[in-house]
Amino acid sequence: MAKKETIYFDYNNMMADYVGEEQGFTDKELRAATQIATKAFEEVKAGRGQNMMGWTELPYNQAAVAEDIMTTAKAIKKNFDSFVVLGIGGSALGPMALFQALCHLHHNELPKSKRKAPKFYVEDNVDPERMKALLDVIDVKKTMFNVITKSGSTSETMTQYLIISDILKKALGKDFASHVIATTSETKGNLIKIAKKEGFKTFFIPDGVGGRFSELCPVGLLPAAVLGINIKQFLDGAKFMDNKCSKQNLFKNPALMAAVLQFLSMKKGKNISVMMPYTDGLKLMADWYAQLWGESLGKSTDLDGKKVYVGQTPVKALGVTDQHSQVQLYTEGPFDKVITLISVQNYRATMEISQGCEDIPAVNFLCGHTMNELITAECNATEYALTKSGKLNDRIILPEVNAFTVGQLMYFFMLQTAYTGALLHIDTFNQPGVEEGKNATYALLGREGYEQKAAELQSKKQKAEKYIL
Ligand code: PA5
Repeated sequence: MAKKETIYFDYNNMMADYVGEEQGFTDKELRAATQIATKAFEEVKAGRGQNMMGWTELPYNQAAVAEDIMTTAKAIKKNFDSFVVLGIGGSALGPMALFQALCHLHHNELPKSKRKAPKFYVEDNVDPERMKALLDVIDVKKTMFNVITKSGSTSETMTQYLIISDILKKALGKDFASHVIATTSETKGNLIKIAKKEGFKTFFIPDGVGGRFSELCPVGLLPAAVLGINIKQFLDGAKFMDNKCSKQNLFKNPALMAAVLQFLSMKKGKNISVMMPYTDGLKLMADWYAQLWGESLGKSTDLDGKKVYVGQTPVKALGVTDQHSQVQLYTEGPFDKVITLISVQNYRATMEISQGCEDIPAVNFLCGHTMNELITAECNATEYALTKSGKLNDRIILPEVNAFTVGQLMYFFMLQTAYTGALLHIDTFNQPGVEEGKNATYALLGREGYEQKAAELQSKKQKAEKYIL
């Protein structure tokens, strides 16, 4: 692939030479980390395609599925006005991130002739107001619902399914099944049972692919294809990044270097990872990253059963918007963050700043420039201010936002997460904290088999009135 399509990881401002000796790292420190880096690299390499690391194979084994997805997507585009994803967590954030990155920023408001794809909604909450609002704007008779849940039992998603299937049945009778596609485990959970009984079209989430690592399988590919996104290029981008990160040498493997730098930063008390793209298209990529990073690395116990309480809190920000909100804190606040800027070399639009205000030089200096120049200058200026104040920051550079570069970016983050988990010696792919909440919800709502959990909740210490004002 042409070099101009490659994304880059620039870590100059993590280095003592740039950010100062007190905060930054030296070449010597990085060289000293090669041993742990090699160990993490080998662990991830050895785990590829096994247990919960099935995601490493997705760039290579989805070709047949992608064909089926594209055929299905073509029919959906022709026959439906809206496409609604019902899912939560990893079953929603990836589709949302890709939609925001690769579709028109006002997709749903475009006239049908320009949109060339159904309107798109992702319902990733059980807020009754939001469900009601969705039902106010869609015509269920012209809507395809994609229910996505790996476990096939997540309360939120199954609640949405129950409401929607009831409405569909009332509106369409037996034909309701042609308005539902289930994306779920082929062998486990309740959704597959329901899908078989009702005759839904199904796509499968491979066993070794967890929610937050599932964007390269039908979870992400079907919604993307329906939206007209080139899913082959997206998968090719992931493959390209996989190859770029195939070297054991820390200094030649960008995801490994990014992981080592975050790991060393955590050791220095940098417990916050800020993700700040300088383009609205990648705004929701920061949300997807936040789940990937937070849920994978936030762990109380290491692989030897030792209490470690590790993880970095992911913070989502948007350039330049958050320069007028959070950047003051990033620049002058505590030295507890690593700030990752994502910059774009070529925006997909150019906006010239019109001539005007000739009598006010302090405004007129903007004229003759483009918004592209302004956003780029502001990204560089923020990087400069952060670096000057000794705040660790790095940068991911995209030549432009397209299916190929976004495939690279998502795979880069997944690999970086896996390497960081290996460095922390934790299970990157489980989520016991999430499961605890899920189980408590089942118990509170009286699900069979959760009686013991319900009793545990019953016996919890009651809240004291005196602490409620
Ligand atoms: O990353 C994960 O595994 C989780 O965030 C899940 O995606 C989320 O809990 C939804 O689970 P499911 O797809 O089983 O409905």
